Amino acid sequence: METYRLITSLSLILQLLSRVSSPATVEESPEFWRSQAQRTLQAALDRTPNTNVAKNIVLFLGDGMGITTYTAARILKGQLQNQSGEETVTNMDTFPYVGLAKTYSVDFQIPDSAATATAYLCGVKTNLNTIGVSAAARNGVCRSQKGNEVTSILRWAKDAGKAVGIVTTTRVQHATPATSYAHSASRKWYSDADLPASARTNNCTDIASQLLSNTDIDVIIGGGRKYMTPRGTRDPEYPRDYSSRGRRKDGRHLIQEWQSLKAGKVAHYVWNKTDFDAVDPETTDYLMALFEPGDMHFDLERDPLMDPSIAETTEKAIRILSRNPNGFFLLVEGGRIDQAHHAGRGSMALHEAVALDRAVGKALELTNEEETLIVVTADHSHPLVINGYPFRGNSILGKSPLWASDMMPFTTLMYGNGPGNKMEGGKRPDIRKVDTKTSGYVQLAAVPLKSATHGGEDVVILARGPMAHLLQGVHEQSYIAHAMAYAACVGTDRRHCAARPAVAAARNQAGP
Ligand SMILES: *[C@@H]1O[C@H](CO)[C@@H](O)[C@H](O)[C@H]1NC(C)=O
Ligand SMILES: *[C@@H]1O[C@H](CO)[C@@H](O)[C@H](O)[C@H]1NC(C)=O
Ligand SMILES: *[C@@H]1O[C@H](CO)[C@@H](O)[C@H](O)[C@H]1NC(C)=O
Ligand SMILES: [Zn+2]
Repeated sequence: METYRLITSLSLILQLLSRVSSPATVEESPEFWRSQAQRTLQAALDRTPNTNVAKNIVLFLGDGMGITTYTAARILKGQLQNQSGEETVTNMDTFPYVGLAKTYSVDFQIPDSAATATAYLCGVKTNLNTIGVSAAARNGVCRSQKGNEVTSILRWAKDAGKAVGIVTTTRVQHATPATSYAHSASRKWYSDADLPASARTNNCTDIASQLLSNTDIDVIIGGGRKYMTPRGTRDPEYPRDYSSRGRRKDGRHLIQEWQSLKAGKVAHYVWNKTDFDAVDPETTDYLMALFEPGDMHFDLERDPLMDPSIAETTEKAIRILSRNPNGFFLLVEGGRIDQAHHAGRGSMALHEAVALDRAVGKALELTNEEETLIVVTADHSHPLVINGYPFRGNSILGKSPLWASDMMPFTTLMYGNGPGNKMEGGKRPDIRKVDTKTSGYVQLAAVPLKSATHGGEDVVILARGPMAHLLQGVHEQSYIAHAMAYAACVGTDRRHCAARPAVAAARNQAGP
């Protein structure tokens, strides 16, 4: 124990010595904090609720972006810019209104992305693994789906004459985007080849086919080519890779069908960045961009010559959808924060969240707060903790200077469960010589699981623009769809249209 204390003290002293030379002098002045607080206070005093009708809605969804991820991503973003990071203000941090959403599903305390998407997109809580159906439907039971379908705000917006789009970093048939356009008793029914026999006899259809048969979606961007083409179809990017080939057993080529459906319109299908960059938003009615056979690459592993970033896809989507004089609804999903967390890869998860923050910044740049409601939220959390007593500016991906009672350091980020539980003879791995900042590093987990589970605490809701103040407070996640719909005057509650004419309508009446 004496040795342990000695080592800990030495480590702390060394850290303190290096700290003395780092410049944090402005923060030593009380005036720094007082004047900063005065500016914040004045901004709060000057803020009046924006009660316009939202012409446009952009909903950013960080899949698995719990509050610890949110904080850690802020620190990482600052540190990538050579700041300490804790004080960094992200694009998300600039939103004036903040609330919390309770994420539990009808059947589980800790939910999945399908049940939660049905809550915040369709306004109805449901069961785990089910998409666009109420809780009267049962996971995987096609027969229970009939009559229990619920529609999403993407549909309500389309019915109100708005343009609609989905942007994701996963396959476009994945739970989050799928819930905006599909009804499926199972989130796993990506293509017809994934439908069990009972689902086929009961006439349930796969998610990919519903991309064409339900709401007419103006912009579709993500991955997921293989669910769109007949079995064995070679992928254009990976022609030799067998697992990338088409999956469909029904022989349908949904990309070609989509192109024929849009005949007479300017509709582009692209699968690489060259063609994507060549798409002129000014003249484009429809865009389907599928950059990978399945999910897109993690942003850190993305080839920037082949695949655009989520900021670039968000920009293209907004530019195309903005052509509609009635406005638009756009769902943007940073879908792989969740997947990195499942793999226990803290660095990768945070970099994905930073990429999403850049996309939020792009949307702030391209839209007007008077007429565009922007909401940023998450579907659920993950069992990530930020722990120890790291010094100011310590790498968020680094180790705490405080050693544990086993006389070994530990990382600031850790998981409650997941693949990072690698006990050897009752001891955790010695990480003194391990670089914990690499994108592949798997942080320690208390309990072994091949894939980390989700987390159950509330998630943040950030809002800016018309009626953003409706999202303050602690709410059921299903409330989000209703508040957004009210703001934009779409869906069944149209009271807001009568109360305030849309900004666009007012402008049109005013004449040129
Ligand atoms: C941060 O510092 C490193 C090392 O000094 C430098 O290579 C890098 O360009 C800097 N990055 C930024 C964003 O300033
Ligand atoms: C499925 O669709 C076929 C063809 O439209 C119809 O004949 C059959 O009755 C349907 N089955 C069910 C269970 O709805
Ligand atoms: C992008 O896709 C187009 C259309 O299939 C193709 O002609 C072009 O070669 C592709 N570009 C790259 C870099 O693969
Ligand atoms: Zn997940």
